[in-house]
Amino acid sequence: MDGKKAAGRKAIDEIEEGMTVGLGTGSTVFYFLEALAEKVADGFSITGVTTSQKTAELAEKWQIPLQSLNNVKQIDLTIDGADEVDPSLNGIKGGGGALLYEKLVAEASDKRIWIVDSRKKVDRLGAFPLPIEVVPFGWKHVEALMAGKGYRPRLRQTTGGQPFVTDAQHYILDLHLNSIEDPEALADELDHVTGIVEHGLFVNMTDKALIGYPDGRVEKLVKEK
Ligand code: A5P
Repeated sequence: MDGKKAAGRKAIDEIEEGMTVGLGTGSTVFYFLEALAEKVADGFSITGVTTSQKTAELAEKWQIPLQSLNNVKQIDLTIDGADEVDPSLNGIKGGGGALLYEKLVAEASDKRIWIVDSRKKVDRLGAFPLPIEVVPFGWKHVEALMAGKGYRPRLRQTTGGQPFVTDAQHYILDLHLNSIEDPEALADELDHVTGIVEHGLFVNMTDKALIGYPDGRVEKLVKEK
């Protein structure tokens, strides 16, 4: 079995009747949504809050009841994917470009769980390019600033060679860092750059990760207190 499918389907065990559930984005979340849709079809009641247009379309197609983030006070639990997860449960997200809405939904959640396949588990973050979401106005200046720091930014583009545009109408620069020594310090630095709306470093934002293996096994990584 695909590790993504194993992790995605396992996450359904975490959902209780009546919960407001944050619905992440990506190919692993697809399997979670599929399992959730099956439960909903059987009469199980939850309210979903989506993190992207793509997830909203899928949830609507599968008749998962939705509310917008503005219409809920708080979210009980969010299930989302990640691009890399380290042993402290810090991670990189945004490979699919949904990092801003994913972080907003994560911050409104009481509990957050990541679902990933085993290839995403790393000792140190940074081999996966770190996405930063930037405002299109003057983005080349942010790019130059990042390049000056040695962060090797690259504008994310569509296959047609146009800038990739996020759901919030921003651009993405992917930082090719190779290795991130101090995720917290880098997150803090990026938080203070004008023009960067959000970055894909999620530090201390997850309680548990479900790691799926090709043999169907799912390992649970829990945050140490
Ligand atoms: C979306 O922007 C991302 O944060 C995804 O959650 C992440 O890229 C994981 O995606 P996959 O499950 O498709 O690998």
